[in-house]
Amino acid sequence: MKIKIGILNSKGGCGKTTIAINLSVAISHQMIKTVLIDADPNQGALFWFKKRNKNHLSNYLKVTSLNKLKKIKNFECLIYDCPANMKDKKVKDIISQCNYLIIPIQASIFDQTATNLFLALINKLSRIRKGKTDLVFVINRYKKRAQIFKKLNTFLLSKKIKPLCKLSDRIAYQLLASEGKSIFDVNHKPIYNLKNEWVPLLHFLKVK
Ligand SMILES: Nc1ncnc2c1ncn2[C@@H]1O[C@H](COP(=O)(O)OP(=O)(O)OP(=O)(O)O)[C@@H](O)[C@H]1O
Ligand SMILES: [Mg+2]
Repeated sequence: MKIKIGILNSKGGCGKTTIAINLSVAISHQMIKTVLIDADPNQGALFWFKKRNKNHLSNYLKVTSLNKLKKIKNFECLIYDCPANMKDKKVKDIISQCNYLIIPIQASIFDQTATNLFLALINKLSRIRKGKTDLVFVINRYKKRAQIFKKLNTFLLSKKIKPLCKLSDRIAYQLLASEGKSIFDVNHKPIYNLKNEWVPLLHFLKVK
């Protein structure tokens, strides 16, 4: 079966593009033909891909815009990097096709409030209500000792949400992205722990 994954939350800056580029590299490394679709008018993922140098190009990973998707015939996994704007009609179309929706959440009260509204919106969609799409919650920019994560846990418990993994707040994500890379392109020891944080997600998606 072809896997279709949407990365979505109406909260701007929660980590959709960061998760999209890292996940697409991780999946493509499993020799799964992966296409990352930049569905955001800001085109961050496409910009990232242009920066990717020849050493990191692979037959298993393509990045394209939504309107060029028809040209891509041969794929096993589609990953949509969605815009924050839920009024954008293409977002509903994307949700209607996806087997999985990955929802990044950060800890701040603003993120919690926005995520609350976002959940109310998507829970109105029949595909979500009927459970045809798995909702996968990922805590992003996690800091071990920060008190605010206790508040986030309380919020998630109140919504009966069990996050699948926590991705640490690390500058490596930003530095590597600026070079067109992901954490899965490098083998430095300090990055090992970061990669391990993704394992529950990769197992859940059955790509590892
Ligand atoms: N785990 C992380 N550790 C450190 N920095 C991160 C992490 N995740 C995201 N960032 C940084 O946070 C900022 C916002 O992330 P990103 O662009 O991925 O969010 P987004 O949800 O795609 O935003 P938008 O809604 O604007 O599309 C970026 O500067 C990114 O590098
Ligand atoms: Mg983005």
